[in-house]
Amino acid sequence: MRHSAPPPDGWGVDVLKSHRCGELRSRHAGERVRLAGWVHRRRDHGGLVFLDLRDESGLVQIVCHPESAPEAHAVASTVRAEWVVAVEGEVQARREGTVNEALPTGSVEVAASEVRVLAEAATPPIAVNQEAAAEEATRLRYRYLDLRRERMAQNLRMRHRVVQGIRRYLEERGFVEVETPMLSAATPEGARDYLVPSRIHPGRFYALPQSPQQWKQLLVVAGFERYYQIARCFRDEDLRADRQPEFTQLDVEMAFVERDDVLDLVEGLYAHLAREVNPERRLQAPFPRIPYAEAMERFGSDKPDLRYGMEIADLSRPALSGELGIFRQAVADGGRGRGFAVPGGADTARRELDRLTGLAREAGAGGLVPVAYGGSGPLEGLAPEEVRSPVARFFEPEVLAEMGRLCGARRGDLLLAVAAPDDVSSRALDVLRREVASTRALADEDELAFCFVTDFPLFEWDAREERWQASHHLFTAPVEEDVPLLESQPGAVRSLAYDLVCNGQELASGSIRAHRPEVLLAVMGILGIDEAQARERFGHMLDAFGYGAPPHGGIAPGLDRTVALFARERDIREVIAFPKTKTASDPLTGAPSSVDPAQLAEVHIDVRP
Ligand code: AMO
Repeated sequence: MRHSAPPPDGWGVDVLKSHRCGELRSRHAGERVRLAGWVHRRRDHGGLVFLDLRDESGLVQIVCHPESAPEAHAVASTVRAEWVVAVEGEVQARREGTVNEALPTGSVEVAASEVRVLAEAATPPIAVNQEAAAEEATRLRYRYLDLRRERMAQNLRMRHRVVQGIRRYLEERGFVEVETPMLSAATPEGARDYLVPSRIHPGRFYALPQSPQQWKQLLVVAGFERYYQIARCFRDEDLRADRQPEFTQLDVEMAFVERDDVLDLVEGLYAHLAREVNPERRLQAPFPRIPYAEAMERFGSDKPDLRYGMEIADLSRPALSGELGIFRQAVADGGRGRGFAVPGGADTARRELDRLTGLAREAGAGGLVPVAYGGSGPLEGLAPEEVRSPVARFFEPEVLAEMGRLCGARRGDLLLAVAAPDDVSSRALDVLRREVASTRALADEDELAFCFVTDFPLFEWDAREERWQASHHLFTAPVEEDVPLLESQPGAVRSLAYDLVCNGQELASGSIRAHRPEVLLAVMGILGIDEAQARERFGHMLDAFGYGAPPHGGIAPGLDRTVALFARERDIREVIAFPKTKTASDPLTGAPSSVDPAQLAEVHIDVRP
């Protein structure tokens, strides 16, 4: 039922519309009104014709009587779903028993004296008046019909409210909104660029921005101490539910700030947005600030979902006291035994355990060790027959109980453990935590569990290319006390980068920047960019930093992900007006499309089949 938009003040009176459909109430009874909108539904009832008339504000019932308004009745008899009509008539209170409680306008109806057809409509390929599932390709091909549906219209309104909320919040704090170029040079975010050929400069290309990263830093150097922009970004990467080739960031940069200044701002912003658009959801503030190493240790992930427990524990010590080879081997290879407890999971079926084992293997683990603790209460005095596990015979019951206790398990719970190097066990246990939480519905959808993850490593080792990569991007500053390790132990250098995470998803990333040219050059050196290359690619930044750069930092929340979170949607396409398919195409316009050879020649491009 469409009852989304409260009629805004100041909409005024138009020639065709004295009122909006959704605003009519009992107090309007007796008034003559002019309405216009779409026919949501037509029903013929004992000689009367009823139209549910829909406009942006909602629905109202129109009734057409054959005796008192024969012409209106005749026209209304011909209209069909999605035709556009104008109606004049009188608002009447509905008789008792015919009031529709589900509709805000349900206490009234409009008795039409005139119905005029403004536009006819072909039969829509998507049912607008019901939430029926439709093929993705059809939805995108006819997106303007898809967007007429209640849920989608609500989502775009939610997006609008989030954007307005952001603007208000930043405006009150002295931020200045500045636009930056779309046609520019490649940026260092690390995805593939979308390139635009230059007509005037044969063989040269612009890159569409992966983010306004360099521009915003230059604006800070230019003296704008608090900048923001709702910025469109472009990245040619593999698409997923939370990734589009073209997406929107709230891009923020601030001068003279330290990490906590940026985090405080963002925490305030999200608390403010949640209050405005999700007042019914619970939120813990202040948001926990969890160092990366701790997040990996406790949750196996830098995007921990804090809505459920199931924290990971190190089981190596008790595990080594048993006879099971895999734990000994893992520890000998520098790894560990780690696991977590599933509350009430002791009765998990064998088939489900096999499925979870499959997931652990896909994540790189050699296998999964399940231990089910029978009975109820604490794990003291566990008898051998009270433990169910394929590895039970390798351990004393007391050792299995100790493993459980380390994970906070009680009788009735299930322990899931893996033996592997830390990166593998983290990956596997993260997958398992999410999977178990999802199948057992452990995550409360009414909760917004925000946290910041901080102290990311500055570099990560790229085993395929055999070189260091920037974990965030190359303008990120190292933690000051780790600067001496840059040369000797790049992998141990922590950065001043941070993420905002909510309910297990990354919403935003940012960092304090390396604003001193010598630090920036040292970082680039580790990344394999020597001074000559640095001057060539980033000379403009190094130059700028040579003219008095304030210490600065910023962050970029993904707007699409933020709106999807507040709209309780899993896929960001549900909150983007005109998104692309999973293969980065647009069924509505047919993009990407082939172009005229003459046009290609103009930009000096010769396409080989
Ligand atoms: P980063 O690359 O982490 O940081 O991006 C910041 C946020 O943008 C969103 N995001 C995306 N959303 C949808 N589709 C995509 N393909 C996509 N890629 C990223 C995410 C992410 O957290 N310049 C830095 C920010 C900074 O340092 O200030 C940057 O772009 O929500």
